[in-house]
Amino acid sequence: MNLKQMVGIEATKFIEDGMIVGLGTGSTAYYMVEEVGRLIREEGLSITGVTTSNATKEQAEKLGIPLKTIDEVSHVDVTIDGADEISADFQGIKGGGAALLFEKIVATYSNKVIWIVDHSKMVEHLGAFPLPVEVIPYGSQQIMRIFNEKNYHPVLRTNENGEYLRTDSNNYIIDLHLETITDPHALANELDKMVGVVEHGLFLDMVNTVIVGYDDGPRILTPQGQK
Ligand code: A5P
Repeated sequence: MNLKQMVGIEATKFIEDGMIVGLGTGSTAYYMVEEVGRLIREEGLSITGVTTSNATKEQAEKLGIPLKTIDEVSHVDVTIDGADEISADFQGIKGGGAALLFEKIVATYSNKVIWIVDHSKMVEHLGAFPLPVEVIPYGSQQIMRIFNEKNYHPVLRTNENGEYLRTDSNNYIIDLHLETITDPHALANELDKMVGVVEHGLFLDMVNTVIVGYDDGPRILTPQGQK
């Protein structure tokens, strides 16, 4: 079993019968979604999924997981998702798979958020992983100019055909190559205020539990003050 599969399966132990579960996106969340499918099929659990991307929606539909949108539920009991980088104080960067907007919306309305990662994603400070910023195409070159002036080393993300990548909401992603983010909250506030920025990949003060995969097994970490 690889580390992503190990943490994906471990996280489903937090799911109880009857729960509404936020289903994350990416190569780690993939294994969690497969296991949710198995729990429904083989163990008869009643679970409703709220997906965080078109890719996860397709996977969940194939597995026969009953789905609702975030607007059709009053809340989400637990959301399980991957992350690109998690700092020692449990702040995260997400959006490497371009699904940050729906991921942040679903996490916001969740009673509990669990991130599942292999140990390579655990870092002291955020920033080595490029920070994704989702922007509306109209005006995006102006945002690029501002990011360049700030020395944020922005790169408009492209797809395999060399075209600008479109998110599930038809926006662009600008990746900021910052190397290190000294004050994540200050940067998040700055990005939140920029016209044309829809969302960014700084997920701050959002996670309740982190499950980290090591060769000798998963470790479950709980930020101070969380249950
Ligand atoms: C999707 O946009 C991301 O936020 C993913 O959750 C993140 O990139 C982790 O993906 P992997 O598990 O594939 O590394």
